[in-house]
Amino acid sequence: MEKMSLRQQTVTNMTHTTVVARSTETTTSDWKQALPVLTGSMVTLRELRLSDAPSLLTMLSTEEVARFISPPPTTVEGFERFIAWTHRERAAGNYACFAVVPHGMDSAIGIFQVRQLEPGFVTAEWGFAIGSGFWGTGVFMDGARLVVDFSFDVIRTHRLEARAAILNGRGNGALRKIGAMQEGILRKSFLRNGEYLDQALWTILDEDWRAQRVIWGARIH
Ligand SMILES: CC(C)(COP(=O)(O)OP(=O)(O)OC[C@H]1O[C@@H](n2cnc3c(N)ncnc32)[C@H](O)[C@@H]1OP(=O)(O)O)[C@@H](O)C(=O)NCCC(=O)NCCS
Repeated sequence: MEKMSLRQQTVTNMTHTTVVARSTETTTSDWKQALPVLTGSMVTLRELRLSDAPSLLTMLSTEEVARFISPPPTTVEGFERFIAWTHRERAAGNYACFAVVPHGMDSAIGIFQVRQLEPGFVTAEWGFAIGSGFWGTGVFMDGARLVVDFSFDVIRTHRLEARAAILNGRGNGALRKIGAMQEGILRKSFLRNGEYLDQALWTILDEDWRAQRVIWGARIH
């Protein structure tokens, strides 16, 4: 699970502007103590809690969600261990994992993860998984903008990478939609169910994200 969404994985309104301002209020070291709460138009992103384990098991262990990602835990206890691991890695400053909580709900319906690929997060990798009942609802885009803002504004990433199996239509479609650029194909780079799969490498640069954000911001005024 630790590798799950990192390997396989990647507001057009006033809310986005608000979130940017809120994210930048968090200093680069604060997040290691506790992740900030990021609020979008549809979802809140917050630190995972042990009590999220049952809902994450329900949401992320289905065949359609797990098909192109490293196998998620198969028990509540397994998810609890994963959640405890995310807290340790965050405290060590290596990694951040946000729970995705739709407005009006308490439980997590998915996760967004960011991990450093080199010290200081200059190059980082992100990943995500959301329960299939929430696919195509806008939840992904809302949460993705929050976590990409967090990566560039708070942990000061310069280059944000994502990997998606070529066969993962939704994963690649989601990365294209958020504005990531496909840089190439990592041939037979992901072992899943005994078979090596090709992956697409997608990247967002800080300068591209800032330029894109200006365009989104312009559209809302
Ligand atoms: C990846 C994930 C978080 C995206 O969330 P989502 O709600 O499905 O994403 P969205 O619907 O907002 O965007 C997906 C886009 O891909 C498009 N798409 C779907 N199937 C596609 C296919 N076979 N080929 C190309 N594009 C496809 C969709 O039409 C959509 O674009 P649109 O909104 O412009 O129509 C979700 O699908 C998921 O959790 N998948 C399982 C976990 C996973 O694979 N994670 C790793 C991804 S690298």
